[in-house]
Amino acid sequence: MTSVLRVEGGHPLIGTITVRGAKNFVPKAMVAALLGDTPSELRNVPLIRDVDVVSDLLGLHGVHVDFDQSRGVMCLEPTNVELARRSDIDALGGASRIPILFCGPLLHRLGEAFIPELGGCNIGGRPIDFHLEILRKFGANVEKRPDGIHISRPAEGLRGTVVDLPFPSVGATEQTLLTAVRAEGNTTLRGAAVEPEIMDLINVLQKMGAIIAVDTDRTIRVEGVDHLQGYRHTSLPDRIEAASWASAALATGGDIHVLGAHQPDMTTFLNTFRKVGGAFDIDSEGIRFYHPGGELKSIALETAVHPGFMTDWQQPLVVALTQASGLSIVHETVYENRFGFTKALRKMGAKIQVYKECLGSTPCRFGQRNFLHSAVISGPTPLHAADITVPDLRGGFSHLIAALAAEGTSNVAGIDVISRGYEHFLTKLRQLDARVEYSESVRA
Ligand code: UD1
Repeated sequence: MTSVLRVEGGHPLIGTITVRGAKNFVPKAMVAALLGDTPSELRNVPLIRDVDVVSDLLGLHGVHVDFDQSRGVMCLEPTNVELARRSDIDALGGASRIPILFCGPLLHRLGEAFIPELGGCNIGGRPIDFHLEILRKFGANVEKRPDGIHISRPAEGLRGTVVDLPFPSVGATEQTLLTAVRAEGNTTLRGAAVEPEIMDLINVLQKMGAIIAVDTDRTIRVEGVDHLQGYRHTSLPDRIEAASWASAALATGGDIHVLGAHQPDMTTFLNTFRKVGGAFDIDSEGIRFYHPGGELKSIALETAVHPGFMTDWQQPLVVALTQASGLSIVHETVYENRFGFTKALRKMGAKIQVYKECLGSTPCRFGQRNFLHSAVISGPTPLHAADITVPDLRGGFSHLIAALAAEGTSNVAGIDVISRGYEHFLTKLRQLDARVEYSESVRA
């Protein structure tokens, strides 16, 4: 079966929606609960598929997860952690990248862990070499076998270490934190990622009893402790979802009040949104994003790790840039293959060229390696309807925005991918007066 959204485009999105907890934080906080001797309570949990996958994985490992979906409150009881059956883990493999973060906590609790084939968005090679190297540095035995990667703890336990990341990877930083907090001795992590979601994970770990210091130069220092307890925490809001709806407002000439959007985590996005010609008002409940009328302006943009312009903000914004006057340049420096979604936009009338060269002020890791990682968008170009297929989570949301902005009726196939990271997106579209019809059909 494939899910299809029929979208009658050309109408501005207008109305109010709410964003809840961050997809890039909540599943990690759920994994952190494994480290506690007592239950944890997480609030502002969104109803998205990544949360379901991690709930199921925790359940397989003996954690009792009780999720009150309407209130967004999740209780996690980790006192009976046990080894999961390999076949059960495999059944969930391929659905998300979070299983790799179970390693440190499981090594501490049970002495072994298993990594199935990982999922997540198809936006490049998405290797796990940093993760495996980090686990080895803590003393773990890492063995690649045909059925997956087996990891075990040495008899003397995991020991603190020094990690130098070659790139400030979000996942590798989280891997280090989740392993270091209960390793024996001190850990120094240099070249760490410092995304707001990571800072909130540090908040959670500190509530649990961890000792973690963040220096100004991307160095994180962890003093290992013997025991951690459960936590009570409210997730930070999803700044990617908020920015996605902001781009949807701009591309459709609309006006969306995003309740829950949080200015401090979005400073860089808001600057760019304003430079493109978008307007926003910030109040105590959230941020109202709107197209103030007049022309949108072209910009030059580079994605980067925090506090730079987030890579996940790029794809939705590119749709709005097709409506800006002049040439916009986007240099993607985090993932080597994040412009696949532009193919569908070209089919809909956008003028977008992708290049192997670094079209930005700073040459990046991908410049010499033949990756199509820069884009030039020439606008404004009216978009027309087309039948398109969602490639990945953020690219899929861009397709959705393009269909909403385009004249005519588009069919967007594989739309369910969006529920991996966007809570109740169909309900929200209806709250914004979008003319959409959802159906499921047998794949041709
Ligand atoms: C997380 C986010 C994702 C976001 C990304 C960067 C989650 C669930 N996902 O992904 O939405 O786009 O951060 O902000 O939180 N790399 C390696 N080897 C590794 C690990 C990473 O080479 O072992 C490379 C990746 O290929 C990529 C770069 O490092 O080029 C950044 O990846 P990373 O920050 O680790 O992304 P994720 O944690 O997977």
